Amino acid sequence: MDRTVVLITGCSSGIGLHLALRLASDPSQSFKVYATMRDLASQGPLLEAAQSRGCPPGSLETLQLDVRDADSIAAAQARVTEGRVDVLVCNAGRGLVGPLEAHKEGSVDAVLDVNLMGTVRMLQAFLLDMKRRRSGRILVTGSVGGLMALPFNAVYCASKFALEGLCESLAILLQPFGVHVSLIECGPVHTPFPEKLEGGLGGMLDRADAETRDLFYRYRRHCERVIREAGQDPEEVVEVSAERDCGSWAAPGLPSPARASSPPPAAAGLPPGAARPAPGPALLHYRTVPAAGAAARLRPQRLQLRRRRAPVSVPRQGGRGLRRRRGGGRSW
Ligand SMILES: NC(=O)c1ccc[n+]([C@@H]2O[C@H](COP(=O)([O-])OP(=O)(O)OC[C@H]3O[C@@H](n4cnc5c(N)ncnc54)[C@H](OP(=O)(O)O)[C@@H]3O)[C@@H](O)[C@H]2O)c1
Repeated sequence: MDRTVVLITGCSSGIGLHLALRLASDPSQSFKVYATMRDLASQGPLLEAAQSRGCPPGSLETLQLDVRDADSIAAAQARVTEGRVDVLVCNAGRGLVGPLEAHKEGSVDAVLDVNLMGTVRMLQAFLLDMKRRRSGRILVTGSVGGLMALPFNAVYCASKFALEGLCESLAILLQPFGVHVSLIECGPVHTPFPEKLEGGLGGMLDRADAETRDLFYRYRRHCERVIREAGQDPEEVVEVSAERDCGSWAAPGLPSPARASSPPPAAAGLPPGAARPAPGPALLHYRTVPAAGAAARLRPQRLQLRRRRAPVSVPRQGGRGLRRRRGGGRSW
């Protein structure tokens, strides 16, 4: 059977890691996942989680890929043994939070380079082949910060707003080529994202005036509460991508996102009308970007996805028993 080849950026943690795991452990065994990351020294948690989930041999391979470096993208692309990528997930991203005037030297460039230019580089590398084959899916991890500006996130929001325009423009052109573009516009998700903010939380706050600093401290407290009360688990987010963009249906017993469209096929083993979790205050949006002329469908679709279940445990980095493969990642 020809498996669906998926390449994901930013798999060292968070949404990318969970999506890679979700697809590599899909009961259909129909995915080959290339889980790429900036630094392969960070692959431990993913590989340990893959082991404990029982991902079948050959379902997962890690590759080094830094979206800021075109050579590293080309090198990773060359290591895709199937010679094609069916689903490209541009997920790598970096946050930048604080007053604009407090951002450290280089932080603004770095965040725009990862979030926007990194996505452009990935698309430039993979689009040609998808268009030639007249087939492919592109999934971009956007943010509600790309739909609605948030204070103290000016540059981050600028990068995510830019992704919206990028995807909308491409989607119109790509539709006749059989290439489909989707955006996952996440609200707050429980991942290490806040720990990896470019330049640290707030940046050089002493460069801001006292009133702005005070507003920032209030904003920070507010954010902590929003994340605590409305934050979603990454598994909930990746379930949407797995189903809608990768064609995988949740296995029996696993939660499945509420859908406006058809129920899951009986083939998935779910009883007809299987109980859905009670809808709650989700902030996640999913957008499948249509062709021109379908303006009504351009509106973001709000998904009610709040559910609680035991999070999948992802071991911390530095676990034992994992060996790096020379020159590349590690196959599973
Ligand atoms: N968490 C949220 O609340 C939230 C909300 C809305 C949108 N998002 C978006 O979701 C995506 C994933 O974030 P996350 O929440 O899963 O956070 P995360 O755990 O910090 O994941 C971000 C990933 O991007 C990687 N990355 C950063 N710079 C890179 C580069 N130059 N090349 C390749 N990979 C790079 C990181 O790798 P390193 O570990 O090597 O730095 C990490 O694997 C991002 O695009 C983010 O903007 C997140």
